[in-house]
Amino acid sequence: MTSDDLYREAILDYYKHPRHKGHLDSPDIQYHDHNPFCGDEITVELKVEDGVVIDAAFDGHGCAISQATASMLMEEIIGKSLEDLKALDKEFILEMLGIEIGPVRLKCALLPLKVLKAGAYGLEEWPE
Ligand code: FES
Repeated sequence: MTSDDLYREAILDYYKHPRHKGHLDSPDIQYHDHNPFCGDEITVELKVEDGVVIDAAFDGHGCAISQATASMLMEEIIGKSLEDLKALDKEFILEMLGIEIGPVRLKCALLPLKVLKAGAYGLEEWPE
C-alpha cells in the first residue's frame, strides 16, 4: 500500500466517521458558507477563550473531501489562537490531507478553510 493509499483511507474514514461533527453549546463564533459550484455546505462553530480555540465543531453536507477536510481541520485547530487561524493557508490544508489533488477537488478542500477563516476574522458575509 502506498502512502497515498493510506492518506486516501484516512480521508474516507474521516468522511464516514467524522470527528467534531455537530454543534457546540453557545459557540462564540459561527460561520456558514457553501461552494457555489456544487451547493455543498459547511458550518463551523468555535468556542474561544482568551483568543484561543478551546472547542470546535462543523456541520454540513457534501463530498468526501470537503467533509473530511472540515473534520480534520477541527481537530487541528483546537488550542490554536484566532491569529493562528487567520494565517492558515492552502499549503497547510494540502499537508494535512497528504495527497495531490486537482483544481476541482482543491475547491472542495479549501471550503472548510474559507469558512473557518471568515469566522476567525469575524465576518458576517464573505466579501464579493
Ligand atoms: Fe462540492 Fe466537493 S463537490 S465541495
